[in-house]
Amino acid sequence: MKIHIFLALIGTFVVIVGAQDQEGFISLDCGLPIDESPYNDSFNELTFTSDSTFIQTGKIDRVDKDLSINLSRQYMTLRYFPEGKRNCYSLDVKRGTTYLIVVSFVYGNYDGLNRDPNFDIHLGPNKWKRIDLDGEKEGTREEIIHKVMSNSLDICLVKTGETFPIISAIEIRPLKNKTYVTQSGSLMLSFRVYLSNSDASIRYADDVHDRIWSPFTGSSFTHITTNLNINNSNAYDIPKTILQGAATPKNASAPLIITWEPIPTNAEVYLYMHFAEIQTLEANETRQFDVILKGNFNHSGFSPTKLKVFTLFTEEPMKCGSEGCHLQLVRTPNSTLPPLINALEAYSVIEFSQLETSLSDVGAIKNIKDTYQLSKITWQGDPCLPQYLSWENIRCTYVDDSTPPTIISLDLSNNSLTGPVPIFLATMKSLSLINLSGNNLSGSVPQALLDREKEGLVLKLEGNPDLCKSSFCNKEKKKKNYLLPSVASAASLLIVVVVVALFFVFRKKKTGPSDLHDPPSMTVSNVEKTNQSSIISKKIRYTYSEVQEMTNNFDKALGEGGFGVVYHGFVNVTEQVAVKLLSQSSSQGYKHFKAEVELLLRVHHINLVSLVGYCDEGEHLALIYEYMPNGDLKQHLSGKHSGFVLSWESRLKIVVDAALGLEYLHTGCIPPMVHRDIKTTNILLDQHLQAKLADFGLSRSFPIGNEKHVSTVVAGTPGYLDPEYYQTNWLTEKSDIYSFGIVLLEMITNRPIIQQTREKPHLVEWVSFMITKGDIRNIMDPNLHHNYDIGSVWKAIEIAMSCVNLSSTRRPNMSQVVNELKECVISETSRIGEGRDMESKGSVDFSKDFYNEVIPQAR
Ligand SMILES: *[C@@H]1O[C@H](CO)[C@@H](O)[C@H](O)[C@H]1NC(C)=O
Ligand SMILES: *[C@@H]1O[C@H](CO)[C@@H](O)[C@H](O)[C@H]1NC(C)=O
Ligand SMILES: *[C@@H]1O[C@H](CO)[C@@H](O)[C@H](O)[C@H]1NC(C)=O
Ligand SMILES: *[C@@H]1O[C@H](CO)[C@@H](O)[C@H](O)[C@H]1NC(C)=O
Ligand SMILES: *[C@@H]1O[C@H](CO)[C@@H](O)[C@H](O)[C@H]1NC(C)=O
Ligand SMILES: *[C@@H]1O[C@H](CO)[C@@H](O)[C@H](O)[C@H]1NC(C)=O
Ligand SMILES: *[C@@H]1O[C@H](CO)[C@@H](O)[C@H](O)[C@H]1NC(C)=O
Ligand SMILES: *[C@@H]1O[C@H](CO)[C@@H](O)[C@H](O)[C@H]1NC(C)=O
Ligand SMILES: *[C@@H]1O[C@H](CO)[C@@H](O)[C@H](O)[C@H]1NC(C)=O
Ligand SMILES: *[C@@H]1O[C@H](CO)[C@@H](O)[C@H](O)[C@H]1NC(C)=O
Ligand SMILES: *[C@@H]1O[C@H](CO)[C@@H](O)[C@H](O)[C@H]1NC(C)=O
Repeated sequence: MKIHIFLALIGTFVVIVGAQDQEGFISLDCGLPIDESPYNDSFNELTFTSDSTFIQTGKIDRVDKDLSINLSRQYMTLRYFPEGKRNCYSLDVKRGTTYLIVVSFVYGNYDGLNRDPNFDIHLGPNKWKRIDLDGEKEGTREEIIHKVMSNSLDICLVKTGETFPIISAIEIRPLKNKTYVTQSGSLMLSFRVYLSNSDASIRYADDVHDRIWSPFTGSSFTHITTNLNINNSNAYDIPKTILQGAATPKNASAPLIITWEPIPTNAEVYLYMHFAEIQTLEANETRQFDVILKGNFNHSGFSPTKLKVFTLFTEEPMKCGSEGCHLQLVRTPNSTLPPLINALEAYSVIEFSQLETSLSDVGAIKNIKDTYQLSKITWQGDPCLPQYLSWENIRCTYVDDSTPPTIISLDLSNNSLTGPVPIFLATMKSLSLINLSGNNLSGSVPQALLDREKEGLVLKLEGNPDLCKSSFCNKEKKKKNYLLPSVASAASLLIVVVVVALFFVFRKKKTGPSDLHDPPSMTVSNVEKTNQSSIISKKIRYTYSEVQEMTNNFDKALGEGGFGVVYHGFVNVTEQVAVKLLSQSSSQGYKHFKAEVELLLRVHHINLVSLVGYCDEGEHLALIYEYMPNGDLKQHLSGKHSGFVLSWESRLKIVVDAALGLEYLHTGCIPPMVHRDIKTTNILLDQHLQAKLADFGLSRSFPIGNEKHVSTVVAGTPGYLDPEYYQTNWLTEKSDIYSFGIVLLEMITNRPIIQQTREKPHLVEWVSFMITKGDIRNIMDPNLHHNYDIGSVWKAIEIAMSCVNLSSTRRPNMSQVVNELKECVISETSRIGEGRDMESKGSVDFSKDFYNEVIPQAR
């Protein structure tokens, strides 16, 4: 039996317009102009969209309007590929899911040349099939059942001769897990039939998975039908209309036989047979038969279930003999009724043995492509595979089919690239050479890449005049032996004096959140229009409906910040994110929003919360950050987060992380940035309690050198606000140092910054007072139960007090703070870590593992 599906016949499909959802369906009408997209197919209500967002190459056209066949709408337009050897669609799918993938090709003499094209079609790195349209006036349709191993599926058209590849439609339907499982390989359709003498095919919406079922009959068959409802509840979701009919042999004592020839003839075969008893059997009646695939299996004594589907399928691949496949249903001697069958599917196995290029490499290289909007014609599909089609300017290593290739070198020299060097280059662990020379990159090289360089990565950056090649691009040299003022000396007297003055300032001009304004002088270029926009790729901009979807319609609020509520969400199914929805009432909101997007797109550091994306759609503004599951430092100090007390060691490590983030803002990026809102609620903690700074809405760059920036409106959070800045409106990075000193004092004392009932209401004042009394134990957070190294405590207090010095010029810079705090960590860890390996004393490793030892994991 040869079953041929004519595309032209699709018009005769049974039309059942159902309100079934098309969840997970991808229905692309290739070549459909965007202004005609989407549309609902008039026969089956499938919603087709244009393919233009899934492919960057190719040209679109229409079939000859004088064509003498009636085509469904999705075959009237097509995309053809005059350029490049391989052109690929890149589709978003769900890893681990089995999909029905259907591609259709109708030439339709679109070019007037009357020359039927031939070409290859590839699925990811593997060749799927040769498409030869010679004589196929009505086109061809290829179908495969394939389990995807990544979240992206590449369908590629590969030119093999003179003619240009074409494509008319792509249809992708998710199938249920645990159906159509193979031992290896994917399934190519031989046929899918239901036993009926009707002439209508059945597909969506009768079939929720949109499989196309063709009617099938034979001269030796009798067809029976029922109007009774059939229970179709098994994983295969066979349409009820199909199960309501069946075939039996005309000669009731003869077997029912179906034969076919698989393609290729020696192919391994999988078979799926769907049965339901649709006759009402009397008590003295039985239907029992053997299901036999000649040379393979004999499933004996089978009886279909009454009014309920039963699917009999092969779990292992079968091999038919040279005379083809021979399926027979043989009535057993005990049976009073002939055998029966309702529907049947047969597939041949196609092995896709070549594993895709390492997923992390593919992710990173696609990111690079998007970031720099590189439109190299070869940069489509799998970067390394097949080898003869690998991308230009990259080199891969190949071991064998079952080892994913890896990318070892990337040459982006002489590409006029602008903007910063993306940090995700560092994630391509197999890269040994990155050549970025001869471009126009700016900013500083991410620390992660510099770290990779130490491990042997060759990084070529010549000929980028605006690029700073170290993570510390400041002129200021780090002084190793910086001396902090001795707190116990007369200096404390000065502090007491200035603190009193400071406190008056606070009382005089009390700032509330409603007084927060943005300096009018702030220059924020439009995210959309900035000519540095090369970093802004499509991937990070989301529509409002996508934001709704990722947050499950804002169902889980994580907290409320100054400019809106923060919600929990997911992107790409599994990546957790925090979504800050900017409240529409906040008039300053848009400025802060743009400032934050701009800044976060420009700076990347392990101790700065990174931006996953944003939404800027009319009045809907949202920022999508990486999710920080452990909340903020303030919650941890108050015990609100988990109830356990942060140890002194953990606190020190957290402030070192925060200090590193701030150091990067001050000295690592160009132009340097002032955060302007350093406080314990803006220090967030990830699952390993690694700290990252958040909330850059107030941040701004400051001039370097002696010149100071005068802003007319002071912004920040009361209590953390640098009194000098408050009085003079001179903005420098030293204002952040002041706020950081306050954070240190909170971390040390776990007391409110301002408490009117205290003998000295302001925390700075109170600590000074306690110091002069020599009462250091009572400065410390009592929850720590004296469980700390007193030397590191003294040092931390010294650092904090020097940071809050009223005179900004006497405050240390962040690099000095970082070094001093690291020394605190060393003395504390050596106290508690008798058994702990202290080899790394000289350079404390603040890696994640370090934290795991100390902190119980949240469950
Ligand atoms: C297509 O059908 C869906 C539901 O069946 C409906 O919501 C949508 O508006 C229709 N679209 C068009 C373009 O007709
Ligand atoms: C195409 O469809 C129209 C209207 O449905 C019909 O009149 C015509 O005969 C069909 N042509 C062909 C070639 O099938
Ligand atoms: C199917 O399996 C994949 C991978 O194992 C899983 O991610 C997905 O949730 C499963 N789907 C259903 C409906 O169980
Ligand atoms: C169909 O069968 C399933 C399980 O075999 C059962 O749970 C379900 O209730 C049945 N449905 C109907 C409508 O009888
Ligand atoms: C019906 O089938 C039986 C068994 O195959 C055979 O012996 C018999 O001749 C057949 N009858 C007719 C009328 O073909
Ligand atoms: C089953 O019983 C009915 C009467 O109830 C009878 O007419 C019929 O011939 C019987 N069939 C068989 C196969 O014995
Ligand atoms: C199938 O198996 C049954 C029971 O094992 C046996 O009676 C029957 O003859 C077998 N049929 C064939 C064609 O081998
Ligand atoms: C056929 O029927 C007899 C008597 O009812 C029973 O003993 C025997 O096991 C049955 N054979 C099969 C294969 O069901
Ligand atoms: C890049 O430009 C430099 C200087 O103009 C030139 O020497 C080099 O060959 C170019 N490299 C490539 C790959 O085009
Ligand atoms: C990097 O690219 C430049 C410019 O094309 C070239 O001159 C240089 O040889 C390349 N370096 C390496 C290590 O490939
Ligand atoms: C690099 O960028 C700057 C500013 O964007 C521009 O003035 C300069 O001409 C660019 N240089 C090259 C070589 O493209």
